[in-house]
Amino acid sequence: MPVGWLEVLDNRALPGAGAGRGMKGPGGGTAGSGMDGGADGGIRELVLRWPWADEPPAPGQFVEVSPQPRSAGAGAGLDPFLPRPFSIAWWQPDAGAAPAASAVAGSRIGLWVRAAGRGSAWLSRVRSGDALRVTGPLGHGFRLPAAAQSQHVQPGGALLRAARSESGHPQPAQPQYAQTGGVSAAPGAAGAPIYLIGGGTGVAPLLFVAQALARAGRVPHAEQTGGLPPAGRPGPVHAFIGAATRAQLVGEAELTHAGAQVTLATDDGSAGFRGNVVQALAARWSQNPPRPGTLLYACGPKAMLRALADLCRRHGLQGWEAQASLEERMACGIGVCLSCICTVRETAQAGSRQHRRVCYDGPVFPLDQVLWDEE
Ligand SMILES: Cc1cc2nc3c(=O)[nH]c(=O)nc-3n(C[C@H](O)[C@H](O)[C@H](O)COP(=O)(O)OP(=O)(O)OC[C@H]3O[C@@H](n4cnc5c(N)ncnc54)[C@H](O)[C@@H]3O)c2cc1C
Ligand code: FES
Repeated sequence: MPVGWLEVLDNRALPGAGAGRGMKGPGGGTAGSGMDGGADGGIRELVLRWPWADEPPAPGQFVEVSPQPRSAGAGAGLDPFLPRPFSIAWWQPDAGAAPAASAVAGSRIGLWVRAAGRGSAWLSRVRSGDALRVTGPLGHGFRLPAAAQSQHVQPGGALLRAARSESGHPQPAQPQYAQTGGVSAAPGAAGAPIYLIGGGTGVAPLLFVAQALARAGRVPHAEQTGGLPPAGRPGPVHAFIGAATRAQLVGEAELTHAGAQVTLATDDGSAGFRGNVVQALAARWSQNPPRPGTLLYACGPKAMLRALADLCRRHGLQGWEAQASLEERMACGIGVCLSCICTVRETAQAGSRQHRRVCYDGPVFPLDQVLWDEE
Protein backbone atom coordinates (compact mmCIF):
# COMPACT_ATOMS: atom_id res chain seq x y z
CA MET A 1 0.00 0.00 0.00
CA PRO A 2 1.33 3.44 -0.81
CA VAL A 3 3.08 5.16 2.06
CA GLY A 4 5.16 8.25 1.54
CA TRP A 5 5.88 11.89 2.20
CA LEU A 6 3.37 14.03 0.32
CA GLU A 7 4.10 17.65 -0.47
CA VAL A 8 1.71 20.23 0.97
CA LEU A 9 0.70 22.47 -1.93
CA ASP A 10 -1.64 24.70 0.03
CA ASN A 11 -3.24 25.20 3.45
CA ARG A 12 -6.18 27.57 3.33
CA ALA A 13 -9.20 28.45 5.40
CA LEU A 14 -12.28 26.73 4.09
CA PRO A 15 -14.68 29.46 2.97
CA GLY A 16 -17.62 29.85 5.26
CA ALA A 17 -16.12 27.60 7.90
CA GLY A 18 -16.07 28.29 11.56
CA ALA A 19 -15.14 25.69 14.12
CA GLY A 20 -16.90 22.40 14.53
CA ARG A 21 -16.97 18.96 12.99
CA GLY A 22 -19.78 18.29 15.43
CA MET A 23 -18.65 14.77 16.22
CA LYS A 24 -20.71 14.51 19.37
CA GLY A 25 -23.51 16.99 18.77
CA PRO A 26 -26.55 16.52 20.99
CA GLY A 27 -29.83 15.08 19.82
CA GLY A 28 -28.77 14.25 16.30
CA GLY A 29 -27.69 17.84 15.78
CA THR A 30 -24.37 18.86 14.44
CA ALA A 31 -23.05 21.06 17.17
CA GLY A 32 -19.29 21.26 17.48
CA SER A 33 -17.42 19.36 20.14
CA GLY A 34 -16.34 22.56 21.80
CA MET A 35 -12.73 22.20 20.71
CA ASP A 36 -10.80 24.91 18.97
CA GLY A 37 -10.94 25.21 15.23
CA GLY A 38 -7.95 25.40 12.91
CA ALA A 39 -5.03 27.76 13.20
CA ASP A 40 -7.43 30.67 12.63
CA GLY A 41 -10.36 29.09 14.47
CA GLY A 42 -11.88 27.48 11.39
CA ILE A 43 -11.52 24.39 9.24
CA ARG A 44 -8.50 24.19 7.00
CA GLU A 45 -8.29 22.68 3.54
CA LEU A 46 -4.95 20.97 2.96
CA VAL A 47 -4.04 20.37 -0.67
CA LEU A 48 -1.51 17.56 -1.08
CA ARG A 49 0.29 16.34 -4.16
CA TRP A 50 -0.91 12.78 -4.91
CA PRO A 51 2.06 10.92 -6.38
CA TRP A 52 0.46 7.48 -6.81
CA ALA A 53 -1.04 7.54 -10.30
CA ASP A 54 -1.95 3.85 -10.19
CA GLU A 55 -3.75 4.24 -6.85
CA PRO A 56 -6.44 6.86 -7.46
CA PRO A 57 -8.63 7.36 -4.39
CA ALA A 58 -12.35 6.60 -4.49
CA PRO A 59 -15.09 8.61 -2.76
CA GLY A 60 -15.42 7.52 0.87
CA GLN A 61 -11.82 6.36 1.19
CA PHE A 62 -9.51 8.05 3.65
CA VAL A 63 -5.84 8.59 4.38
CA GLU A 64 -3.86 8.26 7.58
CA VAL A 65 -1.65 11.29 8.17
CA SER A 66 1.14 11.37 10.74
CA PRO A 67 1.20 14.56 12.77
CA GLN A 68 5.00 14.64 12.71
CA PRO A 69 7.39 16.87 10.81
CA ARG A 70 9.74 15.12 8.40
CA SER A 71 12.66 16.66 10.26
CA ALA A 72 11.67 14.67 13.36
CA GLY A 73 13.42 11.68 11.80
CA ALA A 74 13.01 8.04 12.72
CA GLY A 75 12.21 7.52 16.37
CA ALA A 76 12.07 11.22 17.18
CA GLY A 77 9.00 13.19 18.18
CA LEU A 78 6.81 10.24 19.10
CA ASP A 79 4.06 12.38 20.57
CA PRO A 80 1.47 12.22 19.08
CA PHE A 81 2.58 8.80 17.93
CA LEU A 82 -0.31 7.44 15.87
CA PRO A 83 -1.36 8.74 12.45
CA ARG A 84 -4.78 10.38 12.21
CA PRO A 85 -7.50 9.42 9.69
CA PHE A 86 -8.97 12.03 7.33
CA SER A 87 -11.53 11.58 4.57
CA ILE A 88 -10.48 12.58 1.09
CA ALA A 89 -12.67 15.57 0.23
CA TRP A 90 -11.72 15.73 -3.42
CA TRP A 91 -9.31 14.32 -5.92
CA GLN A 92 -7.95 16.14 -8.94
CA PRO A 93 -6.47 13.76 -11.52
CA ASP A 94 -3.30 14.74 -13.31
CA ALA A 95 -4.12 17.32 -15.95
CA GLY A 96 -1.34 15.74 -17.99
CA ALA A 97 0.17 17.72 -20.78
CA ALA A 98 -2.98 19.80 -21.30
CA PRO A 99 -1.84 23.20 -22.50
CA ALA A 100 -4.71 25.08 -20.84
CA ALA A 101 -3.39 27.84 -18.62
CA SER A 102 -5.69 26.70 -15.83
CA ALA A 103 -4.47 23.12 -15.93
CA VAL A 104 -2.32 22.23 -12.94
CA ALA A 105 0.19 19.49 -13.49
CA GLY A 106 0.10 16.55 -11.13
CA SER A 107 -2.66 14.79 -9.25
CA ARG A 108 -3.81 16.34 -5.97
CA ILE A 109 -6.15 15.59 -3.09
CA GLY A 110 -7.92 17.88 -0.63
CA LEU A 111 -8.36 17.17 3.07
CA TRP A 112 -10.57 19.20 5.42
CA VAL A 113 -9.03 19.40 8.85
CA ARG A 114 -10.72 20.60 12.00
CA ALA A 115 -8.44 20.91 15.00
CA ALA A 116 -10.10 18.55 17.46
CA GLY A 117 -6.95 17.83 19.46
CA ARG A 118 -3.19 17.93 19.29
CA GLY A 119 -2.65 15.93 16.11
CA SER A 120 -5.20 17.75 13.97
CA ALA A 121 -4.17 21.13 15.46
CA TRP A 122 -0.61 20.43 14.33
CA LEU A 123 -1.86 19.43 10.87
CA SER A 124 -3.97 22.55 10.55
CA ARG A 125 -0.79 24.65 10.85
CA VAL A 126 1.38 22.99 8.17
CA ARG A 127 2.63 25.23 5.38
CA SER A 128 3.03 24.96 1.62
CA GLY A 129 6.25 23.13 0.91
CA ASP A 130 6.08 20.99 4.06
CA ALA A 131 5.76 17.24 3.62
CA LEU A 132 3.32 14.95 5.44
CA ARG A 133 3.71 11.23 5.93
CA VAL A 134 0.58 9.72 4.40
CA THR A 135 -0.75 6.18 3.97
CA GLY A 136 -3.63 5.54 1.62
CA PRO A 137 -6.03 5.42 0.01
CA LEU A 138 -7.57 3.28 2.76
CA GLY A 139 -10.89 1.57 3.34
CA HIS A 140 -13.87 0.67 1.21
CA GLY A 141 -15.58 3.75 -0.15
CA PHE A 142 -19.16 4.52 -1.12
CA ARG A 143 -20.89 2.37 -3.68
CA LEU A 144 -21.74 4.79 -6.44
CA PRO A 145 -24.24 4.30 -9.24
CA ALA A 146 -22.62 2.28 -12.03
CA ALA A 147 -22.11 5.26 -14.33
CA ALA A 148 -20.08 7.08 -11.68
CA GLN A 149 -18.41 3.97 -10.32
CA SER A 150 -16.61 3.37 -13.58
CA GLN A 151 -14.86 6.71 -13.17
CA HIS A 152 -13.09 5.39 -10.11
CA VAL A 153 -11.55 2.24 -8.77
CA GLN A 154 -14.03 -0.35 -7.57
CA PRO A 155 -14.75 0.03 -3.88
CA GLY A 156 -11.90 -1.65 -2.11
CA GLY A 157 -9.95 -2.21 -5.30
CA ALA A 158 -6.97 -0.24 -4.11
CA LEU A 159 -7.20 -1.76 -0.66
CA LEU A 160 -7.29 -5.35 -1.83
CA ARG A 161 -4.22 -4.74 -3.95
CA ALA A 162 -2.63 -3.17 -0.91
CA ALA A 163 -3.44 -6.15 1.27
CA ARG A 164 -1.67 -8.43 -1.13
CA SER A 165 1.42 -6.25 -1.38
CA GLU A 166 1.72 -5.60 2.34
CA SER A 167 4.65 -7.47 3.81
CA GLY A 168 5.61 -8.01 7.40
CA HIS A 169 2.04 -7.59 8.69
CA PRO A 170 -0.64 -10.20 9.20
CA GLN A 171 -2.72 -10.24 6.03
CA PRO A 172 -6.23 -9.09 6.82
CA ALA A 173 -8.77 -11.54 5.47
CA GLN A 174 -10.71 -10.26 2.51
CA PRO A 175 -13.75 -8.74 4.10
CA GLN A 176 -16.87 -10.83 3.76
CA TYR A 177 -18.82 -7.65 4.14
CA ALA A 178 -17.64 -6.23 0.85
CA GLN A 179 -18.72 -9.40 -0.88
CA THR A 180 -22.28 -9.18 0.36
CA GLY A 181 -24.47 -9.14 -2.69
CA GLY A 182 -21.41 -9.47 -4.91
CA VAL A 183 -21.96 -6.08 -6.47
CA SER A 184 -19.70 -3.09 -6.68
CA ALA A 185 -22.25 -0.49 -7.66
CA ALA A 186 -25.18 0.90 -5.71
CA PRO A 187 -28.61 -0.21 -6.90
CA GLY A 188 -29.94 3.28 -7.71
CA ALA A 189 -32.11 3.75 -10.79
CA ALA A 190 -31.09 5.98 -13.68
CA GLY A 191 -32.39 9.47 -13.13
CA ALA A 192 -33.54 8.82 -9.55
CA PRO A 193 -32.47 11.50 -7.07
CA ILE A 194 -29.33 11.18 -4.99
CA TYR A 195 -29.16 12.67 -1.49
CA LEU A 196 -25.96 13.71 0.28
CA ILE A 197 -26.46 14.29 4.00
CA GLY A 198 -23.54 15.73 5.95
CA GLY A 199 -22.81 17.28 9.33
CA GLY A 200 -19.76 19.47 9.96
CA THR A 201 -16.64 18.25 8.18
CA GLY A 202 -18.57 15.03 7.51
CA VAL A 203 -19.44 16.91 4.32
CA ALA A 204 -15.89 16.20 3.08
CA PRO A 205 -16.36 12.66 1.68
CA LEU A 206 -19.73 13.71 0.25
CA LEU A 207 -18.06 16.40 -1.82
CA PHE A 208 -15.94 13.65 -3.39
CA VAL A 209 -19.18 11.75 -4.17
CA ALA A 210 -20.65 14.87 -5.81
CA GLN A 211 -17.45 15.32 -7.78
CA ALA A 212 -17.59 11.70 -9.03
CA LEU A 213 -21.25 12.08 -10.02
CA ALA A 214 -20.47 15.30 -11.88
CA ARG A 215 -17.64 13.57 -13.73
CA ALA A 216 -20.07 10.82 -14.72
CA GLY A 217 -21.87 13.40 -16.83
CA ARG A 218 -24.96 13.96 -14.75
CA VAL A 219 -27.07 16.86 -15.93
CA PRO A 220 -27.13 19.34 -13.05
CA HIS A 221 -30.54 20.49 -11.93
CA ALA A 222 -32.33 18.28 -14.46
CA GLU A 223 -35.73 19.30 -13.19
CA GLN A 224 -34.90 22.94 -13.85
CA THR A 225 -34.16 22.20 -17.49
CA GLY A 226 -37.36 20.18 -17.71
CA GLY A 227 -35.39 17.20 -18.94
CA LEU A 228 -34.33 13.93 -17.47
CA PRO A 229 -30.68 12.98 -17.18
CA PRO A 230 -29.42 10.83 -20.06
CA ALA A 231 -30.30 7.14 -19.83
CA GLY A 232 -28.19 5.30 -17.29
CA ARG A 233 -26.90 8.47 -15.67
CA PRO A 234 -27.37 9.35 -12.01
CA GLY A 235 -30.18 11.75 -11.23
CA PRO A 236 -30.17 15.19 -9.62
CA VAL A 237 -28.07 15.54 -6.48
CA HIS A 238 -29.61 17.11 -3.37
CA ALA A 239 -27.11 17.96 -0.65
CA PHE A 240 -28.29 18.70 2.91
CA ILE A 241 -25.53 20.13 5.07
CA GLY A 242 -25.86 21.02 8.72
CA ALA A 243 -24.05 22.72 11.56
CA ALA A 244 -24.83 24.51 14.78
CA THR A 245 -24.58 27.98 13.23
CA ARG A 246 -24.08 29.60 9.84
CA ALA A 247 -20.40 30.22 10.66
CA GLN A 248 -19.85 26.50 11.15
CA LEU A 249 -21.33 25.35 7.85
CA VAL A 250 -18.83 24.02 5.35
CA GLY A 251 -19.05 22.89 1.77
CA GLU A 252 -21.93 24.95 0.40
CA ALA A 253 -19.91 26.60 -2.36
CA GLU A 254 -17.99 23.44 -3.23
CA LEU A 255 -21.11 21.27 -3.48
CA THR A 256 -22.91 23.89 -5.54
CA HIS A 257 -19.92 24.04 -7.86
CA ALA A 258 -20.14 20.24 -8.23
CA GLY A 259 -23.74 20.61 -9.42
CA ALA A 260 -25.62 19.74 -6.22
CA GLN A 261 -28.70 21.58 -5.03
CA VAL A 262 -27.76 22.55 -1.50
CA THR A 263 -30.10 22.84 1.48
CA LEU A 264 -28.66 24.33 4.67
CA ALA A 265 -29.73 23.47 8.21
CA THR A 266 -28.55 25.23 11.35
CA ASP A 267 -29.51 24.50 14.94
CA ASP A 268 -29.96 28.22 15.65
CA GLY A 269 -31.71 29.02 12.37
CA SER A 270 -28.99 31.48 11.31
CA ALA A 271 -28.97 29.89 7.84
CA GLY A 272 -31.54 27.76 6.07
CA PHE A 273 -33.76 25.32 7.95
CA ARG A 274 -33.92 25.80 11.72
CA GLY A 275 -33.07 22.42 13.17
CA ASN A 276 -30.72 19.62 12.37
CA VAL A 277 -30.02 18.23 8.96
CA VAL A 278 -32.10 15.07 9.50
CA GLN A 279 -35.12 17.17 10.47
CA ALA A 280 -34.58 19.21 7.29
CA LEU A 281 -34.58 16.05 5.19
CA ALA A 282 -37.64 14.70 7.02
CA ALA A 283 -39.48 17.94 6.20
CA ARG A 284 -38.53 17.58 2.53
CA TRP A 285 -39.55 13.94 2.37
CA SER A 286 -42.88 14.63 4.06
CA GLN A 287 -43.74 16.71 0.97
CA ASN A 288 -41.68 14.83 -1.56
CA PRO A 289 -41.02 11.23 -0.50
CA PRO A 290 -38.08 9.36 -2.00
CA ARG A 291 -39.01 7.44 -5.14
CA PRO A 292 -37.79 3.92 -5.96
CA GLY A 293 -34.14 3.98 -6.94
CA THR A 294 -33.28 6.91 -4.69
CA LEU A 295 -29.79 6.72 -3.20
CA LEU A 296 -28.51 8.40 -0.06
CA TYR A 297 -24.93 8.99 1.13
CA ALA A 298 -24.14 10.34 4.59
CA CYS A 299 -21.34 11.24 6.96
CA GLY A 300 -21.48 13.04 10.28
CA PRO A 301 -21.83 12.55 14.00
CA LYS A 302 -23.15 9.24 15.25
CA ALA A 303 -26.33 10.77 16.67
CA MET A 304 -27.09 12.29 13.27
CA LEU A 305 -26.51 8.99 11.45
CA ARG A 306 -28.65 7.13 13.90
CA ALA A 307 -31.57 9.53 13.40
CA LEU A 308 -31.01 9.33 9.65
CA ALA A 309 -31.10 5.53 9.73
CA ASP A 310 -34.46 5.76 11.43
CA LEU A 311 -35.80 8.19 8.81
CA CYS A 312 -34.53 6.03 5.94
CA ARG A 313 -36.11 2.94 7.47
CA ARG A 314 -39.46 4.72 7.70
CA HIS A 315 -39.18 5.63 4.02
CA GLY A 316 -38.17 2.14 2.91
CA LEU A 317 -34.53 2.73 1.89
CA GLN A 318 -32.69 -0.53 2.37
CA GLY A 319 -29.12 -1.81 2.23
CA TRP A 320 -26.81 0.12 -0.07
CA GLU A 321 -29.63 2.51 -1.01
CA ALA A 322 -28.64 4.43 2.15
CA GLN A 323 -24.94 4.32 3.05
CA ALA A 324 -22.90 6.14 5.65
CA SER A 325 -19.23 6.65 6.34
CA LEU A 326 -18.59 5.92 10.03
CA GLU A 327 -15.91 7.33 12.28
CA GLU A 328 -14.23 5.47 15.09
CA ARG A 329 -10.93 6.17 16.77
CA MET A 330 -8.29 4.43 14.71
CA ALA A 331 -4.72 3.30 15.15
CA CYS A 332 -3.28 1.14 12.35
CA GLY A 333 -5.93 2.02 9.74
CA ILE A 334 -5.32 -1.26 7.88
CA GLY A 335 -7.42 -3.78 9.78
CA VAL A 336 -4.78 -5.23 12.06
CA CYS A 337 -5.12 -3.72 15.54
CA LEU A 338 -8.91 -4.09 16.02
CA SER A 339 -9.23 -0.69 17.70
CA CYS A 340 -12.05 0.55 15.45
CA ILE A 341 -14.68 -2.17 15.77
CA CYS A 342 -18.37 -1.53 15.10
CA THR A 343 -21.25 -3.99 15.21
CA VAL A 344 -23.42 -4.71 12.19
CA ARG A 345 -26.27 -7.01 11.34
CA GLU A 346 -25.83 -8.11 7.76
CA THR A 347 -29.15 -9.89 7.43
CA ALA A 348 -32.57 -9.46 8.96
CA GLN A 349 -31.94 -12.69 10.89
CA ALA A 350 -32.11 -12.23 14.63
CA GLY A 351 -28.80 -12.85 16.36
CA SER A 352 -26.68 -12.27 13.27
CA ARG A 353 -24.44 -9.68 14.88
CA GLN A 354 -21.01 -9.30 13.35
CA HIS A 355 -18.05 -7.20 14.40
CA ARG A 356 -16.47 -5.15 11.65
CA ARG A 357 -13.34 -3.03 11.42
CA VAL A 358 -14.39 0.46 10.40
CA CYS A 359 -10.97 1.15 8.84
CA TYR A 360 -10.86 -1.97 6.68
CA ASP A 361 -14.36 -3.40 6.23
CA GLY A 362 -15.68 0.18 6.07
CA PRO A 363 -15.66 3.05 6.72
CA VAL A 364 -18.82 2.91 4.58
CA PHE A 365 -21.68 0.65 5.68
CA PRO A 366 -25.37 0.41 4.83
CA LEU A 367 -27.19 2.56 7.38
CA ASP A 368 -29.75 -0.12 8.19
CA GLN A 369 -27.09 -2.65 9.14
CA VAL A 370 -25.27 -0.66 11.82
CA LEU A 371 -26.20 -1.49 15.41
CA TRP A 372 -25.74 1.94 16.97
CA ASP A 373 -26.06 0.93 20.61
CA GLU A 374 -23.34 -1.69 20.54
CA GLU A 375 -19.80 -0.34 20.67
C1 LIG B 1 -12.58 7.54 8.58
C2 LIG B 1 -12.40 8.87 9.28
C3 LIG B 1 -12.43 10.04 8.54
C4 LIG B 1 -12.25 11.27 9.19
N1 LIG B 1 -12.28 12.39 8.42
C5 LIG B 1 -12.08 13.59 9.00
C6 LIG B 1 -12.09 14.78 8.21
O1 LIG B 1 -12.29 14.74 6.99
N2 LIG B 1 -11.85 15.96 8.85
C7 LIG B 1 -11.64 16.03 10.21
O2 LIG B 1 -11.41 17.14 10.72
N3 LIG B 1 -11.65 14.93 10.97
C8 LIG B 1 -11.85 13.72 10.42
N4 LIG B 1 -11.85 12.58 11.18
C9 LIG B 1 -11.62 12.72 12.62
C10 LIG B 1 -10.13 12.90 12.88
O3 LIG B 1 -9.44 11.73 12.53
C11 LIG B 1 -9.93 13.19 14.37
O4 LIG B 1 -10.49 14.45 14.65
C12 LIG B 1 -8.47 13.24 14.69
O5 LIG B 1 -7.94 11.94 14.58
C13 LIG B 1 -8.28 13.73 16.08
O6 LIG B 1 -6.89 13.63 16.37
P1 LIG B 1 -6.24 14.67 17.38
O7 LIG B 1 -4.86 14.23 17.72
O8 LIG B 1 -6.38 16.05 16.84
O9 LIG B 1 -7.21 14.59 18.62
P2 LIG B 1 -7.13 13.67 19.91
O10 LIG B 1 -6.33 14.41 20.93
O11 LIG B 1 -6.68 12.29 19.54
O12 LIG B 1 -8.67 13.69 20.28
C14 LIG B 1 -9.37 14.93 20.46
C15 LIG B 1 -10.84 14.67 20.70
O13 LIG B 1 -11.47 14.14 19.52
C16 LIG B 1 -12.08 12.88 19.81
N5 LIG B 1 -11.90 12.03 18.63
C17 LIG B 1 -10.74 11.75 18.01
N6 LIG B 1 -10.96 10.95 16.95
C18 LIG B 1 -12.29 10.73 16.90
C19 LIG B 1 -13.15 9.98 16.04
N7 LIG B 1 -12.69 9.27 15.00
N8 LIG B 1 -14.48 9.99 16.29
C20 LIG B 1 -14.97 10.66 17.34
N9 LIG B 1 -14.20 11.39 18.19
C21 LIG B 1 -12.90 11.42 17.97
C22 LIG B 1 -11.33 12.36 21.01
O14 LIG B 1 -12.12 11.45 21.76
C23 LIG B 1 -11.07 13.62 21.80
O15 LIG B 1 -12.20 14.03 22.54
C24 LIG B 1 -12.04 11.34 10.57
C25 LIG B 1 -12.02 10.15 11.33
C26 LIG B 1 -12.20 8.94 10.69
C27 LIG B 1 -12.16 7.67 11.49
S1 FES C 1 -7.56 0.98 13.14
FE1 FES C 1 -6.52 -0.92 13.39
S2 FES C 1 -8.07 -2.36 12.87
FE2 FES C 1 -8.99 -0.45 12.41
